[in-house]
Amino acid sequence: MTTRLSVSGERLYRSLVTLGEVGAYDADNGLRGVARLALTAADGAGRQHVVERMRELGLEVRIDRIGNVYGRRRGTHDSLAPVMLGSHIDSVATGGMFDGCLGVLGGLEVVRVLNDAGRTTRRPIEVAFFTEEEGARFGTDMLGSAVATGRIPLEQAYGLRDRVGKVVKDELAAIGFLGEHSELLPAPHAYLECHIEQGPMLRAGSRDIGVVTGVQAICWHELLIVGKSAHAGTTPMSLRADPGVAAARINVAIREMTASGRFGPDLRATMGVITPYPGLVNVVPGKVTASVDIRNPDDAILARAEAEVIELYASVAAAEKVSITHRQTARTNRVRFDERVQAEVARSADARGLSHERIVSGAGHDAQEMAPHCPSGMVFVPGEYDGISHNPRELSTRSQCENGVNVLLDVTLAFADEAGTP
Ligand code: GLV
Ligand code: MN
Ligand code: MN
Repeated sequence: MTTRLSVSGERLYRSLVTLGEVGAYDADNGLRGVARLALTAADGAGRQHVVERMRELGLEVRIDRIGNVYGRRRGTHDSLAPVMLGSHIDSVATGGMFDGCLGVLGGLEVVRVLNDAGRTTRRPIEVAFFTEEEGARFGTDMLGSAVATGRIPLEQAYGLRDRVGKVVKDELAAIGFLGEHSELLPAPHAYLECHIEQGPMLRAGSRDIGVVTGVQAICWHELLIVGKSAHAGTTPMSLRADPGVAAARINVAIREMTASGRFGPDLRATMGVITPYPGLVNVVPGKVTASVDIRNPDDAILARAEAEVIELYASVAAAEKVSITHRQTARTNRVRFDERVQAEVARSADARGLSHERIVSGAGHDAQEMAPHCPSGMVFVPGEYDGISHNPRELSTRSQCENGVNVLLDVTLAFADEAGTP
């Protein structure tokens, strides 16, 4: 009988805390937040840190032309397609230390356990982190994994600009991560991602593990609302064309759409960016840039909601005498994860005495891009404080993380010893 391998929760947690210090800042209430927007100097330092950890583990590191990083542990049948464990280490500007990092450092912990045990696998194992998963800097989420799987062409990705006009290609070069390897990733044998849930369900149900069935459909719009800048004291209300009011009306209207019940109970709608120009107390803004994020697990419902939001822009523009243009910056359909991966996640949880439930991801993940490419799936772990995320308060405990990565380890081994071609 072979003894089951297990990860070191203490070592894993230490690695999360250490990476969490790269790009850390002091947030409110004594909390430490993480600001590692993609391709900033902080992201570059985080990347260097993870690459060093990869090399220490004996992984062969390669960097592709969109800056995705892959660390490879050889298999005994090394020409077989690898099992890939991945996620991201970029963060939103006000993030926590678990989002994405758990999947990457969890993957490295899996490798560490196998190395320490002298356990070889038939297939290679690759630990990956992908560029600009968040979309928080260049406006399009899952950028690296979408380029790797061919959804977004490399040249289009290279040309994306941040708010001050810096482009992806230059910023990759500036942090030393404009790699030479082809960005097109040959299909792995399987892709596995361990991630914090980023929501309240698992914690509320006292579940240890989420067996992720898929990711809901996501749509992002970037809005440019143009009106007439004017004096706040002298301009009669009847003469105003105030894009700030137009943005506010859209924001309230999308909230009302979610509450109306017309789209079922699961429509999510958020205006996360509302930036007035010039942004002064006594000036009616002349221009507002804003964003709309809408999500639903059902493709048809999301399509209906998106169409209604577009009609809303036109009616608000007419009512407020402003012009509103929108650009769709992200759009993905509902993704379903591989049944076999889900079954292996549930089997591992059962074998380890961990409670579990099936769950649809509300957040986007690199696994959604990999899913059409190869059998893919995710392991979720619960988070404290209603699973709050994209917030410095984000917190999963050591044992919650350890449980998730133990399941990742088991599922990795279930796939990594499989024969077959390739
Ligand atoms: C990624 O974090 C998302 O926006 O879901
Ligand atoms: Mn994430
Ligand atoms: Mn995130």
